[in-house]
Amino acid sequence: MNINNLKEQLGKKITLGAWIANKRSSGKIAFFQLRYGAGFIQAIALKENLGEEKYQELRHLPQETSLKVTGLIKENDREISGIELEIEDFEIISIAHDYPITPKEHGVEFLADNRHIWIRSKKQHAILTVRNQIIKSTYDFFEKEGFLKLDPPILTSSAPEGTTELFNTKYFEEEAYLSQSGQLYMEACAMAFGKVFSFGPTFRAEKSKTRRHLIEFWMIEPEMAFCNHDESLKIQEAYVNYLITNVMEKCEEQLRVLGRDLESLNNARGEFPRIKYKDAIQLLKDNGFDDIEYGDDFGSPHETFIANSYNKPVFITHWPVDIKPFYMKEDPNEPGVVLCADLIAPEGYGEIIGGSQRIDDYDKLLENIKKHELNEEAYNWYLELRKYGSVEHSGFGLGLERTVAWITGNGHVRETIPFPRLLNRLTP
Ligand code: 4AD
Ligand code: MG
Repeated sequence: MNINNLKEQLGKKITLGAWIANKRSSGKIAFFQLRYGAGFIQAIALKENLGEEKYQELRHLPQETSLKVTGLIKENDREISGIELEIEDFEIISIAHDYPITPKEHGVEFLADNRHIWIRSKKQHAILTVRNQIIKSTYDFFEKEGFLKLDPPILTSSAPEGTTELFNTKYFEEEAYLSQSGQLYMEACAMAFGKVFSFGPTFRAEKSKTRRHLIEFWMIEPEMAFCNHDESLKIQEAYVNYLITNVMEKCEEQLRVLGRDLESLNNARGEFPRIKYKDAIQLLKDNGFDDIEYGDDFGSPHETFIANSYNKPVFITHWPVDIKPFYMKEDPNEPGVVLCADLIAPEGYGEIIGGSQRIDDYDKLLENIKKHELNEEAYNWYLELRKYGSVEHSGFGLGLERTVAWITGNGHVRETIPFPRLLNRLTP
């Protein structure tokens, strides 16, 4: 039986495949936390219902034993789920011996080594369920807005975000890279389909060991033809608002399990403030940061300070040409800066979106490819997009794991993906 919403079964007798996540018992009554796949439910076993022998057998089963339980779904207001299961019968499927993750506290390295089973725990289960909702809401949002979902390649010959953080691999006789971003391909797709988005894994050989960096992360990359920078910001704002609203609505139980501060999440909705890069630098300087100059990229403390000056996600716009990738369009009204924005999440979760208006002029793009010393041959197809009906276009990339970290209120991206790839971790 596939029961995705047990609440709909209220008052009914059901049989459930489940694992014992936790238990406590006395002589006459036993309480279990059962994980039934889609979620957790409290189950109660009474000696008077099961009889002495079965009751004792059940209450001594070890953690993570799998079983099928039959019983009645009843209301229980003290449970976050609002329901519980009264066990009438059970069948043991497999007894688990010496499950390493006990209900006591464990160190994070130990948990990371045991990620293949750590994902069973209540907190991890809640975070990954929210991740699923964000993915689902992403598809819903872009479908509603008339976007087509298309998939860029993972093995590529181009490097949109700079050549220092690439994973190289042999492609028969050629050199290939694992994709850092599907953007360039999505630009081609936008010229064919108008509004498109991709969702896929991206790889960055970044030697960063922070709570915001993964080596392999998933990115949502929308790209829009006939769309300028300002119009792109509007879509980004609507999209992030949609994610918050949907998660608050559909993952209420998970957010409660995680103890998420719902008020600040709720307050994050609405119009997002915008600040120009140069004004952000000034704001930092005025507040005692003497480790940053115009032309520097922001570090975590800078981003956090800027974010804390607002209670909403904030767009930092108009960055200097020199610290942004080759494809960004210079602002015709403000030479030296590009039409781009990073969206910084509130509460110190850092940059969740990077986006820009793209160069639509052939000669300007060629000039930049040369200036950045990129392999011209690998970008010929990309240049050609500016030859055949070039139009104003913009797009952005939202990092899924950082967004999940922020929305769930979880400090570290390693818990927002089932199997994180980190600087020193490839297993499990
Ligand atoms: O700002 P980035 O590098 O932008 C791009 O890749 C553009 N080509 C996107 C586009 O315009 N289509 O990355 C986009 C987002 C960041 O804002 C961040 O959320 C996430 O991807 N990100 C990472 N997430 C986890 N670990 C990392 N190492 C990340 N690097 C970037
Ligand atoms: Mg960025």
